[in-house]
Amino acid sequence: MAVREVLKMGDPRLLQKARPVEEFRTAELRALIGDMLDTMHHLHGAGLAAPQIGVDLQVVIFEIARNPRYPDVEPIPLTVLINPELEYLSDEQDEDWEGCLSLPGLRGRVPRCTHVRYRGHDAEGHAIDRIVQGFHARVVQHETDHLQGVLYPMRMRDHSKFGFTEVIFPHLAIVE
Ligand code: NI
Repeated sequence: MAVREVLKMGDPRLLQKARPVEEFRTAELRALIGDMLDTMHHLHGAGLAAPQIGVDLQVVIFEIARNPRYPDVEPIPLTVLINPELEYLSDEQDEDWEGCLSLPGLRGRVPRCTHVRYRGHDAEGHAIDRIVQGFHARVVQHETDHLQGVLYPMRMRDHSKFGFTEVIFPHLAIVE
């Protein structure tokens, strides 16, 4: 397993639609997921999509560990989600700050649907089917957007709420 280079915004590979995974339980898929986990943990990210390391497949990972410094952020179990399908369960949208490992050092306010259902498979091909809300719903929408070639600034409505983390949050040591 290895930490891989994360592509940055401007790279055309981030704007492509990813292909579905057709075969589970392969050495290649396990190696890809291992590299994605190593890369996300190394960079302290909350999520990562395969296209961000230049792999054109519908694989995303995400995890929010419980952090006593951010008691309001609900933890999300480490999830490997393959060939995801997203269903919006509400017309309600909520705007909050997002960051992305492909836009290092930046933050933007992004509107997202508050309640979603997502389905897909884990690395072994087992079905995943969850109904989630709040930050979990936001993270899933952000990561699955990567599989459609969509980066969060493309979802923003108010670009006055877009800038460098160190300027917007000068008192917080926020990681990507
Ligand atoms: Ni991202």
